[in-house]
Amino acid sequence: MEGPRPPFESEYSKVVEFVSNSLRPHQNWSISDEYPTAFNLANLNNIRVMFHEKEVVSHALIKPLVIKTPLILLKVAGIGSVVTATSHRQQGLSRQIIDDCLKSAENQGCDIALLWTEIPDFYRKFQFELAGTENHSLIDRELPTSRKDLKFLTSSQIAPEAIYNLYQKHQITTLRSIDEVKRFLKIPNSNIHTAWDANHRLAAYAVEGKGSDLKGYIHEWGGNLPELFALLNYVRTSTQSNPRLITPAHSRNLNRQLKSCGITHQENFLGMIKILRPDLLCAKIKKASRDLGISDFIFEKQNNDFYIGRPGHIFKTDSIIDITKLIFGPWTPNQIHPFDDASLEILNRLFPIDIWLWGWDSI
Ligand SMILES: CC(C)(COP(=O)(O)OP(=O)(O)OC[C@H]1O[C@@H](n2cnc3c(N)ncnc32)[C@H](O)[C@@H]1OP(=O)(O)O)[C@@H](O)C(=O)NCCC(=O)NCCS
Repeated sequence: MEGPRPPFESEYSKVVEFVSNSLRPHQNWSISDEYPTAFNLANLNNIRVMFHEKEVVSHALIKPLVIKTPLILLKVAGIGSVVTATSHRQQGLSRQIIDDCLKSAENQGCDIALLWTEIPDFYRKFQFELAGTENHSLIDRELPTSRKDLKFLTSSQIAPEAIYNLYQKHQITTLRSIDEVKRFLKIPNSNIHTAWDANHRLAAYAVEGKGSDLKGYIHEWGGNLPELFALLNYVRTSTQSNPRLITPAHSRNLNRQLKSCGITHQENFLGMIKILRPDLLCAKIKKASRDLGISDFIFEKQNNDFYIGRPGHIFKTDSIIDITKLIFGPWTPNQIHPFDDASLEILNRLFPIDIWLWGWDSI
C-alpha cells in the first residue's frame, strides 16, 4: 500500500476516473465538472490518495476557503469526495487519508474543517460534529414584489462578472475569483435563473441543482428582495414546480418576509464542523470581542481545557464538541452552562458566528 500522498500530475486523470466511477457511476460527466475548483490541478497538493499495486484504492480532498464574516475572517478546509474502493474497505484507509487531510489543513492555518455527509457517525470518529444553521423554505406561493419590469432568463450563458458583482453584495461570502464563477456556471445539471432590468443589468440570480446534488434546491442566489422575489415567482411559473430556497439564519429580513407570506422554514445544520486550530480560533474570537468594545471577555484554551466567561465567572470545559456548537450554533450558551447574566449578554453578542457557505462551494 502506498500513501496517503498527493497524486503526481501524471496520475491526476486516473484519480479523477476512480472518484467519478466510484461516486458517480451512472452520470455522463466527470466529478471534476461537478467540483471544478476542488478537482483542479491548482488544488493537486490538497488531494490525498492511497495506491495498491499502482491502482487508486482510496481518496479524499480538501479545498481551503476563506470566509468573510462581519466578526472574523475564517479559513476553512472543505473536505469532500471521501471514498474507498469496495474491495479495500474497513482496513483503515479512509482513516489514514482523512487524518492526513486534516493535518495538511491544520498546517495551512485552517481554523476549521467542514463537510456534508449522510454518515455523520463515521466523521464523529474524527471529532466532527453537526453544527451551524441553514434554513430551507418551500416557495409554494406567489411572493409580493414591486418589480414588474424585469426580464427573465434561464441560461448559463451569462457574464460571470455580473454574478460576481451581485455576489459581492452579500454580507458573508467566501473569497472567489471571477474565473471560479465562470467554472461554477458550467456545472452540469444546474439551472441558472436570472432577472435583468431595463438597462440590461443583472438584478437577481438563483441557481438550482448542482451535478448529482441539490435538485430542486436554490443554493446560490443574489439581489435585493423585490428583484429576488420577482425571480422566484418566475422560477415557479417557468418550471411549474415549487423550489426550495436555502437561506442562512443571518438573512433575517428575507426570512422574516417569507414568514410574513406564510412560508415557514425548516431549520437544518449547516454541516459537520471540526475545529482544527482552537488556539487560533480563540484568539480571533477574543480579538472580535475587543473590536466590539468588550474588554473583560475570557475565551481561551489551555492544555485540554477551554475557559469561557469573565473574571470571577469562568466556566471550564474539555468538550470541543460543546465549544463547536456554541461558536457556530445551533446551541445557545445556556445549553452548555448556566452563565451569569453579564457573561450571557457577551456570549449572545458574539455567538453564533454567522458562518455560511454558498452551494457552489460545497464539495
Ligand atoms: C465511508 C467510507 C469512505 C469508509 O472507508 P473505509 O476505508 O472503509 O474506512 P476505514 O476503514 O478507515 O474506517 C474508519 C472507521 O470508520 C468506521 N466506518 C467505516 N465506514 C463507516 C460507515 N459507513 N459509517 C460509520 N462508520 C464507518 C470503521 O468501522 C472504522 O472505525 P474504527 O476506526 O473505530 O474501527 C467507505 O465506506 C466508502 O467509500 N463509502 C462510499 C462512499 C461514501 O459514503 N463516502 C462518504 C461520503 S461523505
